[in-house]
Amino acid sequence: MNTIFTHGGNVFAVARQLGVPPEEILDFSASINPLGPPPGVRGAVAAAFDRLGHYPDSACTELVEALARCHGCEPANVCVGNGSTELIHLLPRLVAAQRALIIAPAFSEYAEALRKAGWAYDCLVLPEDAGFPLSIAAVREELHKEYGLLFLCNPGNPTGRLYRKDQVAELLEVCRDAGTLLVVDEAFIDFCDEESVKRPVIESGAGVVIRSMTKFYGFPGLRLGYALAAAPLAERLCTLRLPWGVGTLAQAAGVAALADPGHGARSRAFVAEERAFLMAGLSSLPGVRVWPGAANYLLARLNGELSAAGLQERLLPERILIRDCANFHGLDGHFFRVAVRTREENERLLAALRAVIARG
Ligand SMILES: Cc1ncc(COP(=O)(O)O)c(C=O)c1O
Repeated sequence: MNTIFTHGGNVFAVARQLGVPPEEILDFSASINPLGPPPGVRGAVAAAFDRLGHYPDSACTELVEALARCHGCEPANVCVGNGSTELIHLLPRLVAAQRALIIAPAFSEYAEALRKAGWAYDCLVLPEDAGFPLSIAAVREELHKEYGLLFLCNPGNPTGRLYRKDQVAELLEVCRDAGTLLVVDEAFIDFCDEESVKRPVIESGAGVVIRSMTKFYGFPGLRLGYALAAAPLAERLCTLRLPWGVGTLAQAAGVAALADPGHGARSRAFVAEERAFLMAGLSSLPGVRVWPGAANYLLARLNGELSAAGLQERLLPERILIRDCANFHGLDGHFFRVAVRTREENERLLAALRAVIARG
């Protein structure tokens, strides 16, 4: 493949390259709920079609109220964005500083947002051998450099590593003492939401929690995410957004998704079972190391000659797309990430991987 992608989920470009319809690509490169959106979302989006003759509700009132009810906070603590990516890109404008720290490896948009805002950044790379543990003492040491923002992804993408709520709350205190705003990206925490630090973050005023609705609710094609923070921070973030940035269809999808808690419970149970199956299958492949993950994806590494890019290339004739993790700061060209999908799809992936690895 001759195109370099920054993210996973490039089914349209890959399908064009292969000359096949996008529906034929089995996409393990983007980590989307394998059960898809809650059933009510389709009808809600169709019904909202008739409202497209008006501009969207810029304040996303109904969705903000539903999110506040769902998280047990006030509407003033919520800021909805055009995907959590929009909010990540606005964060540097919340703080009068020019330097940030990123706990790596991590989602590439933190660095991209900082670069575009003219900030410098450092990465604190977590050790892969120990399973990417977070040392609060190591972060405290780094914070002497007077960073304006600290980015932590929990659970980590691409590592899948979950940091316990107590530990992240301790990090929040360390950041508050250092005058650094802590950003906890909880884009995948719906799969393990008892570990969310939304409450201490809102109460402390020393951080921002970023949440995505595109992964857990299965509609990345509709852009929707939000931030949770103390009211003054959330309100300032809202003022930085583009007017009408969140479309009517996305708002309707979000409200309908939140109205179906049963889908969330089913998704968590389904993903836990399939993740265990995929973990066991990947671990049984010769020369492959897999890291346990708490979300709907797993990080793995090829220990032999074959690179992740080579593996990705060899899976394409099978119409299977995986995420080559070479461009994550802190990982090398042998790391790859795969999403947890349905049993039949996971079996297809494992069979294809087994065949490629056997060929050498
Ligand atoms: C960790 C993490 N945060 C945020 C995002 C952005 O998601 P969205 O803009 O679809 O809400 C992604 C997308 O892959 C991600 O992996």
